[in-house]
Amino acid sequence: MKEWIERHYERVFDAAIILLAAFLTLIAYLTYRAGGYWMVLSFLSSVGLFMLAHSIFFGPKRLTVTRYRERLVHHPGAWIRVVFLSDFHTGGFRDADWYERLAHEAQSLDPDVLFLGGDFCVDSLQHLDHLRPFERVTARLGRYFVLGNHDFLEDPVAIRDTVRSWGFVDLTNSGISLSKEGHYLQLTALDDHLFGSPIVPPFRASAELPHITIAHEPDGVMDMSSKDTDLYIAGHTHGGQVRLPVIGSLLPIPSKLGRRADCGRKMINGIRLLVSQGTGEADFRARLFCPPEIMVVEVGV
Ligand SMILES: [Fe+2]
Repeated sequence: MKEWIERHYERVFDAAIILLAAFLTLIAYLTYRAGGYWMVLSFLSSVGLFMLAHSIFFGPKRLTVTRYRERLVHHPGAWIRVVFLSDFHTGGFRDADWYERLAHEAQSLDPDVLFLGGDFCVDSLQHLDHLRPFERVTARLGRYFVLGNHDFLEDPVAIRDTVRSWGFVDLTNSGISLSKEGHYLQLTALDDHLFGSPIVPPFRASAELPHITIAHEPDGVMDMSSKDTDLYIAGHTHGGQVRLPVIGSLLPIPSKLGRRADCGRKMINGIRLLVSQGTGEADFRARLFCPPEIMVVEVGV
């Protein structure tokens, strides 16, 4: 049974959504007819129906750009713009037009650094080529990537080779020194925390120079202190995908940090942590109060 569900996952998902929508419609209708206090239940069922439809049909398409401005020194002489995208999950629920749109948007943000934070695929490499439009995106200080946990479940060697062939530099467990207008930034990227061998704390050539760490998962920050890095950027969580205001994610967050670092800007171990909601979906194609996100970080150095 489990195997059958896995094989026909999309159809099972669609059937479950249709059944849930039909159930909510029935409840709304019957309680509306009953009148009186039952109208409260009718109203709640209607709201549930609306949110269900929104999360399936509109939520995944509402691409957002989230901007942060992080000063790593007291008086920055330059601002380096890092554009970070992760969790593409080609082969899942997105078509080629979506990835074309992502690449176009990334270019329009005029990056100094373009970083692809992993989870290029899900279940197969068949649609990895949908990400090829990123081959054309330019970034003044370079284009870099690391793999994510889903990539290790497929063929990490082939995925690495493909992304490299688009002109991106694999920065796994290595660092690079970037400069803009005579001001320097050290960037180190970590291997995947679940299936790779991340070197934590990351390499830092000089404690004097500002330093950022980028990884697929946010978990590496738990084994670091504020001496190891000034800013940590990660994806992986998808923000939980289905969220409610105030309550947050309705689903468990697949990381050790859990809800402490599900999305947005956090402070862990004295380190500023930015967690992206990602651009795709892995297990189910729904997003509620958690749109796909491109992260733009202006780093003051
Ligand atoms: Fe992911």
